[in-house]
Amino acid sequence: MSILELPKVELHLHLEGAAPPTFIRGLAQEKGVPLEGVFDDDGHYQYKDFWDFLKVYEAATACLQTPQDFARLTTAVLEECAANGVVYAETFLAPDFCGGGDVAAWKEYLHAIQEAADAAERDLGVTLRGIVTAVRHFGADQSRKTALCAAETAGDWVVGFGMGGDEKYGEPKDYAYAFDMAREAKLQLTSHAGEWNGPDEVRASIRDLGIKRVGHGVRAIEDADLIREIKDKGVALEVCPGSNVALGVYSSWDKHPIDLLRKSGVTVSVSTDDPPFFHTTMKNEYDMLNKTFGWDESIFRELNKSAISSAFCSEETRSEIE
Ligand code: ADE
Ligand code: ZN
Repeated sequence: MSILELPKVELHLHLEGAAPPTFIRGLAQEKGVPLEGVFDDDGHYQYKDFWDFLKVYEAATACLQTPQDFARLTTAVLEECAANGVVYAETFLAPDFCGGGDVAAWKEYLHAIQEAADAAERDLGVTLRGIVTAVRHFGADQSRKTALCAAETAGDWVVGFGMGGDEKYGEPKDYAYAFDMAREAKLQLTSHAGEWNGPDEVRASIRDLGIKRVGHGVRAIEDADLIREIKDKGVALEVCPGSNVALGVYSSWDKHPIDLLRKSGVTVSVSTDDPPFFHTTMKNEYDMLNKTFGWDESIFRELNKSAISSAFCSEETRSEIE
């Protein structure tokens, strides 16, 4: 079997960040939302750096206004997952973009997303689960509202709580209350760390937020003690190499530490993060890992096994995707 055709598990995928540009343009037209500076002349998302990326991301997200818009988005994203052989995905969902953190509104958005996901599971064979996500640069107070939305909808489908956004804003401990709320609601925890800040950010996130997975976490490679801690504690890294290269965390694929991380015994999985923003797909990630590091079918099968074992879903769902 070609490695590109292997069944894939993806644990780090932002729902809004996976919106195809054509989908967002269509929605903007329908709703009369002006989208200045979001697209380049070729119709791709454009941004200068990570912080500009966050602005463009939020501008594009402004077109997604109703639960129905999110249902349509979910269908479009899962079609792309299926085309890439993804059989199981976990997606970050931000209540901030789905009713602004109001619990009643969030429940309506979530219901629409789940209905679309159920239909895609039936029709396309892709299983989706949700990780409710705070946006770090929206602040600690807002993260508590997000955690309340997460706690109120925790269950078989909303399986985790996480945080993305600008890692340079505040400190992990500022968000400990929100993560404590989510933990009490039996949600599993992940947070973006060690994408822009160094190893100390990863260490503080593990210590202060009690996370069992780290979004990116790649800069942990700069600290051997931290690598030991990550292995001892069984923390898994959600690595998104194409995202890191597109945003300039690393200047090229061959400078990316995923192969070193894997060889040092850290549990890693591979994801696309915000695929159209970074001109990538899961097939492209596999292709580049094969070309850059010589990863073969046995390594990809191993990678997917450890991705399944670090997935946040129930044991029943896990056994169905194995
Ligand atoms: N939100 C969407 N993509 C992100 C990324 N790569 N880092 C932090 N927050 C994000
Ligand atoms: Zn991310």
